[in-house]
Amino acid sequence: TNVAIIMGGYSSEYKISLTSGNVVYNHLDATKYNAYRIHIFKDKWVYVDKNEQEFPINKNDFSVEVQGSKITFDVVFNAIHGTPGEDGLMQAYFELLNIPQTSCDYYQAALTFNKRDLLSVLKPYGIKTATSFYLNNGDSIDITKIIETVGLPCFVKPNKSGSSFGISKVKSIEDLVPAIENAYKEDNEIIIESFLDGTEVSVGVINFKGQIKVLPITEIVSENDFFDYEAKYLGKSQEITPARISAEIQAKVEATAKKAYEVLKMSGFSRSEFIIVNGEPHMLEMNTIPGLTTESILPQQAREAGISLNELFENAIELALK
Ligand code: DAL
Ligand code: MG
Repeated sequence: TNVAIIMGGYSSEYKISLTSGNVVYNHLDATKYNAYRIHIFKDKWVYVDKNEQEFPINKNDFSVEVQGSKITFDVVFNAIHGTPGEDGLMQAYFELLNIPQTSCDYYQAALTFNKRDLLSVLKPYGIKTATSFYLNNGDSIDITKIIETVGLPCFVKPNKSGSSFGISKVKSIEDLVPAIENAYKEDNEIIIESFLDGTEVSVGVINFKGQIKVLPITEIVSENDFFDYEAKYLGKSQEITPARISAEIQAKVEATAKKAYEVLKMSGFSRSEFIIVNGEPHMLEMNTIPGLTTESILPQQAREAGISLNELFENAIELALK
């Protein structure tokens, strides 16, 4: 089975994606899979061999020519965080080419990558969220109205991005406009959310051997003001799996995360973030290409559930091929 592991991407998250992709590459059983690392960057799509030599991908059929022979792929393992791997673009391309892929379908990817749209679809199903205010680039910024809606402190986020790039916690009115300008560097849409004071948890939901499985919940305790880039990747947080929450709250969080997965007709990986306020989970977002490095949350949760990385990745490939 020829597996194309796609990694890189066009967003600020490309470095994390390269790490995720290489972890996948190093955890596939070589007797079962011929794994190929494919770098997807704006200026080049290339297959990178063991000696770091690059071979251009033919975008007409996603094939590559290596020493006179043409290689095609049976399945794509998507490890691209952010655009174009997590927002539906690559998914739609592979759907058109009829190449099976490990990620969810293009529509689910596009919908979940858009925080505003994801949360507004889930709200009628009883899934709670923060109060939010939405801005499109070019909209006038009515500071009074924003603060009236979401209060202080609040979070200013790019509507479509990941790894906390461009996110600020705003505590005073003067910081609002700079935070908005900062978020616009990552996306042309912004979501401003009320501060939810509670316990942050991350919940992995995957399709495991044909069944929807909720992985052990991770509690996030950030040393920084919130779970920002530094907290996520430079060790400034504690990630505690399983979370120190009561059985009753745990059941509620699991049911909510599973419901979201089902309602959205998701497939493949997902990792949703919640803040539990007074025992009620409030959803922040869903990641469909969650970090897959050995220290990332979803792999930690899988290990806690007794699933090795090899098994986790192989399961994704086998489900894609079905
Ligand atoms: N966006 C990062 C990679 C994550 O969700 O893990
Ligand atoms: Mg995210």
